[in-house]
Amino acid sequence: MQIYIETFGCAMNHKDSENILAILKEKRNAVQTDKIQEADLIIINTCSVREKPIQKLFSELGSFNAIKKNGAKIGVAGCTASHLGREIIQKAPYVNFVLGARNVSKIDAILDKKGAVEIDISNDESLELYPSSPVSNFRKSINISIGCDKQCTFCIVPFTRGEEISIPADLIINEVQKAVESGAKEILLLGQNVNNYGRRFSQPHRDINFTALLKAVSKIDGLERIRFSSPHPLHMDNKFIEEFANNPKIAKGIHVPLQSGSNKILKMMKRGYNREWFIDRIERIRRAVPDVAISTDIIVGFPDESDSDFNDTIDILNRAKFEQLFSFKYSPRPLTEAKDFNNQIIDEVASERLIILQSTHQKIMEELAKERINKIYSVLFDTFDENSGCLIGRTSSGLLVKSRGDIYNLGQIRNVKIIESMRTQMKGEII
Ligand code: 5AD
Ligand code: SF4
Repeated sequence: MQIYIETFGCAMNHKDSENILAILKEKRNAVQTDKIQEADLIIINTCSVREKPIQKLFSELGSFNAIKKNGAKIGVAGCTASHLGREIIQKAPYVNFVLGARNVSKIDAILDKKGAVEIDISNDESLELYPSSPVSNFRKSINISIGCDKQCTFCIVPFTRGEEISIPADLIINEVQKAVESGAKEILLLGQNVNNYGRRFSQPHRDINFTALLKAVSKIDGLERIRFSSPHPLHMDNKFIEEFANNPKIAKGIHVPLQSGSNKILKMMKRGYNREWFIDRIERIRRAVPDVAISTDIIVGFPDESDSDFNDTIDILNRAKFEQLFSFKYSPRPLTEAKDFNNQIIDEVASERLIILQSTHQKIMEELAKERINKIYSVLFDTFDENSGCLIGRTSSGLLVKSRGDIYNLGQIRNVKIIESMRTQMKGEII
C-alpha cells in the first residue's frame, strides 16, 4: 500500500501524521509516496485554527479525487476532521473516512469502513504506544500531553483536540530513550500547552510538573538537546525559568506566545496574564539567558481592538525584541466565544495592522542580525548540502547556520563563529 499524506498546521499535526504512517507501516506494510497518482491511500491531515486552510481543503480534495488512481481511498484527518466530521463526506462524498485529531490510533480500523467518521474528542490516547518511526536529521518529536484545557476565546483547538491529559512520565522517558538509541541528538517535547504538564493524568500518577519532567528527561545519556513547544506564558514560573537557564541540555530557544499587548484584549481573550506579567517574564528570561532566542505569536484585529490596543502590542514588540514572530489576522472560528463578540474589526483595518506589525518586526530582526556578527554559537549540524559543500544546522537558540565543512560533522555539535548574519540565517566558520 502506497500512502500520500499531506499535513497542515502545527508540530502536533506533523507528529500525528508520523504516527498514522507508523501504524500503517506496521499493520499494512505501507510505504510513503510523494506521487499522488500512485497512491492507494491519500490522507489530508488538516488544521482548523484559521479559516483559510478549510477552504483549501475542499478545493484540494476535489483535485486529488480527479487525479487519484482507480480505487484509491481518500481520508481527512486532523482538527478540521474533528470539527466538521460528517459534513466533509456530505460535501465531498468520495471521501472514504474522517479521522479526528484525537483518534489517530483508530487509523487501521477505519480504513476499510467506507463513510466512517471517528471524531470523539473524549477519546483517551494518552496511554497509546505507537510503533517507532525513523529519526530524521538527528531529531525526534515526542508528545507529552494531548488536548488543551485553556479556553482562549479565539481558539478552536479545545473543541477539536478535547481536554488536556498528560502522558505518563515513564512512557515519555522510554520514548526519548528509544529515540536516542535510534540516533536522535535532539528531542522536541510536544503539547498544546506543555508547561501545564502533570495537571491531569488518566490513571493515578506521582506528582510531577513540567520543570521536573525536563529534569528527568535531561538525565538521559546521549541526549544533547531538549526543545519544547508550545509553552504558555502564564505557567512560566521562576523555577521553570531557572531550570531553562541552568540545565545545559535545554536548548535556549523559547516560544512565548503574546497574542496581544493590550490588557483589555488579553482579558477578552481569557489569556490569564496581563502585559506586565508578560514583560516581566521576557525580562527575566533574557536576564537569565543572555543568548536566548524568543519567538512569539501575535493576533491582530481581535474584536474591539482599538488603535491604542494595537499600539500596546507594538510597544511590547519593541521592548521584547522577539527573534521570531508568527503573526496572524484574527479569524472568527466556529464554536469559539470571540466569534460572537461585538465590534468585529473590518478586514482592511486588520490587514493594515498586520503590515505595520510585520514591518516593525523586520527592523528589529535587522538590528538583531547585526549583533550576531563575530559571536560564537554551538551548532548542531543536521544536513549536508552536497552542491555547496555546506553543513546546515541550528544554534541552541534555534537559529539557522550554514558553514563549509565535512560530511563527518553531521550529527555533531560544533562551535561556529558567525561571519555573515541575515535576518533569518547566518553563515559561519567552524572553529
Ligand atoms: N485567528 C487567528 N489566529 C489564531 N490563532 C489561534 N486561533 C486563531 C484565530 N481564531 C493563532 C494563535 C496561536 C497560533 C497557533 O495561531 O496566535 O498561538
Ligand atoms: Fe491546527 Fe491548532 Fe489543530 Fe495544530 S492544534 S492542527 S495548529 S488547529
